[in-house]
Amino acid sequence: MSDKIVCKNFDYFITSRCTLNCKLCSNYIPYIPHPFHTPKETAFREMKEFFQIWDYADRIELIGGEPLFHPDFFEILEESLKYESQFGKIRITTNGTIIPSEKIFSLIRETDKRIEFLVDDYGPQLSKNLSQIIAKCDEYDIPYRVDTYHGDSQYSNGWIYFGDCKTDLGYSDEKLAQVFHRCVVPKEHFVMVNNGKAFYCDYPMAMYQVTGNLPTNGGYIDLFDDSIPLEKKRDMARHLWEGPFSSCRYCTGFDIENAKRYPAAEQLPRRCVQEG
Ligand SMILES: C[S@@+](CC[C@H](N)C(=O)[O-])C[C@H]1O[C@@H](n2cnc3c(N)ncnc32)[C@H](O)[C@@H]1O
Ligand code: SF4
Repeated sequence: MSDKIVCKNFDYFITSRCTLNCKLCSNYIPYIPHPFHTPKETAFREMKEFFQIWDYADRIELIGGEPLFHPDFFEILEESLKYESQFGKIRITTNGTIIPSEKIFSLIRETDKRIEFLVDDYGPQLSKNLSQIIAKCDEYDIPYRVDTYHGDSQYSNGWIYFGDCKTDLGYSDEKLAQVFHRCVVPKEHFVMVNNGKAFYCDYPMAMYQVTGNLPTNGGYIDLFDDSIPLEKKRDMARHLWEGPFSSCRYCTGFDIENAKRYPAAEQLPRRCVQEG
């Protein structure tokens, strides 16, 4: 058996700031008390530590908040490319509000289709620059996918409400096991990196940002804790998805087949904390 530690998706969460304010955002951006762009030095260190633990990620997904809102997006992308032997592709998931600079498009073109865009189309009122982004991708011959979420056209039938990050849903142990068993996240082998930590799921990552609480029984690795030997971190990575975790008690579960779906990107009024 190969001893290599591999994940399908490395969700590289580089900012908790966003140009939109979606009520049901799965990363809970409107509810984060002090949103910030991850300083680039921190982002570089997260990437370095991640690739010491994981030998390979099929894909790095640059995500947030709105990743293109990060003032050092170009540098972070450039840094990611240094690990080219340890990942397959890079995907930039954007809400269609920001047109990347020519410098960014040129860098992407040089990578010969290893970097692609996922442009979420939340409708012309919100994803205002969608057509310009697509036109630029065509001009630079960069692959992209558009997922449409407006009106009756909702990709995957719309979004899911996972919980408010604060309320224990009062599951019995049996119900908790069922929620975890039906959840797609542990099966997908995604890793979410943010705040110097690698999480097995977005929800505990969001809970940490919203409430400051970490899961009490695993489900994350502190990438910046140098007192944990690398071999121990690698061992934790091998078992990262073995739950359920305390955070699952607060979550409705990402049950692709049965979860209730809602129209995407309903906007909340802007709050002053977003402007910080
Ligand atoms: C949190 S967003 C961040 C990237 C970017 N700001 C955007 O909206 O495309 C990442 C992805 O999660 C999806 N998403 C957000 N909230 C969701 C929810 N409650 N249920 C399912 N998918 C969700 C978005 O459509 C997007 O494809
Ligand atoms: S656009 Fe909406 S879904 Fe995407 S990060 Fe911003 S608030 Fe969340």
